[in-house]
Amino acid sequence: MPPPALEHHSEDRISVRGEPFRVYIDRDRIRSRVEELGERISRDYRDQRPILIGVLNGAYIFLADLMRAISIDCEVDFMKLSSYGAEKISSGSVRSLKEIDADITGRHVIIVEDIVDTGLSMEYILDTLSRERPASMQVATMLHKAAATKVDLELRYVGFEIDNLFVVGYGLDYGQVGRNLKDIFILDASV
Ligand code: IMP
Repeated sequence: MPPPALEHHSEDRISVRGEPFRVYIDRDRIRSRVEELGERISRDYRDQRPILIGVLNGAYIFLADLMRAISIDCEVDFMKLSSYGAEKISSGSVRSLKEIDADITGRHVIIVEDIVDTGLSMEYILDTLSRERPASMQVATMLHKAAATKVDLELRYVGFEIDNLFVVGYGLDYGQVGRNLKDIFILDASV
């Protein structure tokens, strides 16, 4: 039998598909940051009933926590883009696999992403959704790799700015493995 794709070596060290990762942002920091973002959104969108648009697959865990940290009326919908597959670098080409069902014309939209890396996916999403003439459109992303971002984007709600290394956990995967990890792990370049 091949070894499992996810192996726990200690509380803060794992390997995913044979590569070493270490805890980078733990669950407590994630929880308190998501609470802060939820409170900000609740203040910024009072009486506006925003619609959160989650980008599948990676954003669903962040979205579920963020939505419960929001205390005002809000709605949810999902879209899905093509992914990296089992690679660790962005392919640079973005394709839509599932479009939203909601009518967002005249609505206040918050796009919810797990991570903005090159920014090409977010640029594509903003271009596509702006054609439907929402009243406003902002981005909430759990993570941002600023050093990797190639396009100019306004990211209103950012959980954490992170180093330009591959991460897994809290919804983020490496070849579909690791989404269920409660903490965010980073590729351990020192190993
Ligand atoms: P971008 O188009 O390069 O900004 O990449 C966006 C998508 O790539 C994200 O929604 C993730 O699904 C994926 N991605 C980018 N960086 C990472 C990473 O470090 N770990 C896991 N997935 C990533």
